[in-house]
Amino acid sequence: MQLGLKGKSAIVTGGSRGIGKAIAQSLAAEGCRLLVCARGEEALMETVNELRSSGADAHGLTVDITDLGAAKQLADKATELFGGVDVLVASAGGNRRGQFADSTDQDWDDILELNLKAHLRSAREVIPSMKASGSGSIVFISSIFGREAGGAGLSIYNTTKSALISAAKIMAIELGKDGIRVNSVAPGSIRFPGGSWDKRCISDPEGMATFISENIPLGRFGTAEEVADVVTFLSSERASWVSGACITVDGVQSRSLI
Ligand SMILES: NC(=O)c1ccc[n+]([C@@H]2O[C@H](COP(=O)([O-])OP(=O)(O)OC[C@H]3O[C@@H](n4cnc5c(N)ncnc54)[C@H](OP(=O)(O)O)[C@@H]3O)[C@@H](O)[C@H]2O)c1
Repeated sequence: MQLGLKGKSAIVTGGSRGIGKAIAQSLAAEGCRLLVCARGEEALMETVNELRSSGADAHGLTVDITDLGAAKQLADKATELFGGVDVLVASAGGNRRGQFADSTDQDWDDILELNLKAHLRSAREVIPSMKASGSGSIVFISSIFGREAGGAGLSIYNTTKSALISAAKIMAIELGKDGIRVNSVAPGSIRFPGGSWDKRCISDPEGMATFISENIPLGRFGTAEEVADVVTFLSSERASWVSGACITVDGVQSRSLI
């Protein structure tokens, strides 16, 4: 399948490691020109250099996407480098576990900024360029816990990830006439070196084996590359009739019927 991504310009937020990095690598392998962002400069530049050594036109911008000006900075940089933005993948995200009764306004504000509002701002900043070219793809990385209850301790994460799916759907309705598709992707438990599931597997291998047998019918953790493949397809013109969708990538981990 020819994805038609060669020469397209893409922004990947949270692209220095894990799922975001795999997405950047996958888009680069299809010929996209890339602007990748994260807060930590060392890991970001390592990723950018890896992308460049595989032949990609890749660039890094060290920003905290929760800073109010960061989204504009990203869009401006991509426009300066590539003349516009064809693809936005908003992957940066995080969690703050805890009982709802103990959570503070600050906890909610911090994770709402990181998991939701930063992505909305990033999308808003790239929409004019996509409108001007008459096409574009925006993908938000949500979670299966945006589609169904993740359980105790996850009220903030669950809420922000659900909101992201909801926003993507309405954006897709509004932006369809401009040729802009907006989708979300809901990964299940994804293991990669140094990631949270990897650390848990190393510290508690038996517990994690039980977790897999009880929760993941396909019998293993997912890989970042398996999420990246789906995101790359969604970002391509081969997904031209896919918009407003939330696609699970979870080895049947989630229980939701929709
Ligand atoms: N891993 C899983 O099992 C899983 C499952 C479902 C959903 N997800 C979602 O998938 C996405 C990626 O997850 P992951 O596990 O790959 O995460 P990760 O390993 O923690 O990587 C997060 C990336 O985002 C960057 N980042 C974090 N905060 C940022 C900020 N404020 N500004 C700019 N960049 C920031 C990080 O770099 P810096 O720290 O240097 O900024 C890093 O590049 C997240 O949205 C997560 O919720 C993950």
